[in-house]
Amino acid sequence: MATLKEKRTCGQRCEDFGRFVWNSDNGTFMGRTPEKWVYISLYYVAFYVVMTGLFSLAIYVLMYTLDPYAPDYQDRLKSPGVMVWPDTYGEEDIEINYNTSDKACWTKMSKILHKFLGPYNDTKQLECNNYNCTKGKYFIQKTFSAPHHTKWACPFTQSMLGPCSGLEDPTFGYNCTMPCVVIKMNRIIDFLPTNHTELPPYVNCTILEGQSNVAKIEYFPDRGVMDLSYFPYYGKLAQPTYVNPLVAVRFSLVGEKHAKIQCRVVGDKIGYQSYHEPYEGKVTFYLKAMK
Ligand SMILES: *[C@@H]1O[C@H](CO)[C@@H](O)[C@H](O)[C@H]1NC(C)=O
Ligand SMILES: *[C@@H]1O[C@H](CO)[C@@H](O)[C@H](O)[C@H]1NC(C)=O
Ligand SMILES: *[C@@H]1O[C@H](CO)[C@@H](O)[C@H](O)[C@H]1NC(C)=O
Ligand SMILES: *[C@@H]1O[C@H](CO)[C@@H](O)[C@H](O)[C@H]1NC(C)=O
Ligand SMILES: *[C@@H]1O[C@H](CO)[C@@H](O)[C@H](O)[C@H]1NC(C)=O
Ligand SMILES: *[C@@H]1O[C@H](CO)[C@@H](O)[C@H](O)[C@H]1NC(C)=O
Repeated sequence: MATLKEKRTCGQRCEDFGRFVWNSDNGTFMGRTPEKWVYISLYYVAFYVVMTGLFSLAIYVLMYTLDPYAPDYQDRLKSPGVMVWPDTYGEEDIEINYNTSDKACWTKMSKILHKFLGPYNDTKQLECNNYNCTKGKYFIQKTFSAPHHTKWACPFTQSMLGPCSGLEDPTFGYNCTMPCVVIKMNRIIDFLPTNHTELPPYVNCTILEGQSNVAKIEYFPDRGVMDLSYFPYYGKLAQPTYVNPLVAVRFSLVGEKHAKIQCRVVGDKIGYQSYHEPYEGKVTFYLKAMK
């Protein structure tokens, strides 16, 4: 076998390699004529142009079909949940227990409410939501006419909660037996709570246990209405300054001063009978004033 292999000197090998790089006999460079090299280069240029084109097209189609203002996958949730503040939990249920003679106890409740109402501060709202909304009508916005390519949001100020605003009475009634709770309905993009536009959604609280311990229920704003101008919600990117409308409910506790209460947001599109979603359209809590 070894005999078949010609013994070659180093100089010969170098010469061979030189001939491979540039062969003057048949005019080839690295085994191919310059003309062929041009074709090969053109082929690869065309190949990468087409690949880049396909890739860009795929990205473009993807971006085009994505709506930047709404998440692609929304929960299948069709009906909003309802929450109550102060959101203090007992063993399992929401229990709003407080001691009227223990300052530390009721300041805890008023602190929770003051913190929750922070974004509703009147000066803050009038600064960031200074649009004059038409009350009693859905605020449908097809265009992005607010600054920075967004949509307007209607102001909801703390003072709209009247005696439960924490402005006149910073204790929200927790230093006596007229405590206020605040009801909020979760936001769902594009959700319209009712199709009877003359009948806005409103909060209705009923006493499930201890009827005789609640002398009076008052709603702020008037009749517990959530004005239609706060709907629909268009999403965080489209409406960055949006705030949920709120309803404050004040209970006058008498006698044994405790009750089990259910507050429902009433609207013909707001479900409340789902077995699997106990907070759908309503919230149930215990209220107890001690001395
Ligand atoms: C309420 O607070 C007062 C004063 O701190 C205390 O004497 C009383 O026992 C408390 N009542 C209850 C039911 O915890
Ligand atoms: C609302 O905000 C203003 C300015 O930030 C502040 O001076 C005022 O105390 C706030 N009001 C309440 C009730 O927190
Ligand atoms: C909103 O309307 C009221 C009364 O029509 C007017 O006094 C007020 O200046 C308006 N506010 C804005 C921000 O346009
Ligand atoms: C509770 O606080 C408010 C406001 O600070 C005050 O007007 C009211 O008299 C207080 N009530 C009791 C029972 O201390
Ligand atoms: C309102 O919606 C409900 C259910 O979505 C429907 O049954 C009802 O006919 C609608 N009413 C009006 C006035 O459109
Ligand atoms: C509130 O709910 C109760 C019980 O479901 C009902 O009897 C009452 O009529 C409702 N009130 C309003 C204003 O809808």
